[in-house]
Amino acid sequence: MDNDVLRQAPLFSSLDDEAASALGSSMSETRLRRGDVLFHEGDSGDRLYVVTEGKVKVGRSSSDGRENLLAIMGPGQMFGELSLFDPGPRSATVTAVTDVTFASLSHDDLLKWLDGRPLVARGLLSQLAARLRKSNDVVADLVFSDVPGRVAKALLDLADRFGRTADDGVHVHHDLTQEELAQLVGASRETVNKALADFASRGWLRLEPRSVVIMDIERLGKRAR
Ligand code: CMP
Repeated sequence: MDNDVLRQAPLFSSLDDEAASALGSSMSETRLRRGDVLFHEGDSGDRLYVVTEGKVKVGRSSSDGRENLLAIMGPGQMFGELSLFDPGPRSATVTAVTDVTFASLSHDDLLKWLDGRPLVARGLLSQLAARLRKSNDVVADLVFSDVPGRVAKALLDLADRFGRTADDGVHVHHDLTQEELAQLVGASRETVNKALADFASRGWLRLEPRSVVIMDIERLGKRAR
């Protein structure tokens, strides 16, 4: 298991090396292929996961089959804690968007681990608070921003987490189809495609399959505001 990646997760951030490797070795490894579902919204669940390699999408579906993506998570990011702190079924479906590896811990083991470790509990609370903040931003953007603004913001968020700076711009290999990008932004594929084509025609970015090269991050940032 990749300890350097695990250490980025909030569960590990306050631990010294010894405690981190003890916790790491009590976790088990799970692998999924691209497109596999780890669990569905509504399932009962008793494990928490940290992505160690690859990416997953966290989404919900409407009764008529439409999908909305709540988050894309990559290495070092954690999920599966809501059904522990607010006992109930899984609040979303988690699907691999690339081949993925996770480290996982049972909720029971996590509760034992939290006993007497207030700093670890604080790390988890801080992640929950950050997610609530982000959800508030998403709701505000759905109400106040237009689709191109939301597309620009989503691209900048993906660039922040998965981008690699090169001479010709920031290469963001997001691994999402245009349909998935649209589900992340909460708009139709056609509207999102139109916004992307408009940004490309202005020279702000270049579209590539499952990735984008951002050439003018400043203009994109202004459009996201
Ligand atoms: P749980 O409900 O156990 O299973 C689904 C997981 O998706 C949930 O725990 C969270 O870890 C994660 N999740 C749910 N909603 C969001 C969100 N808005 N942003 C990021 N992650 C989320």
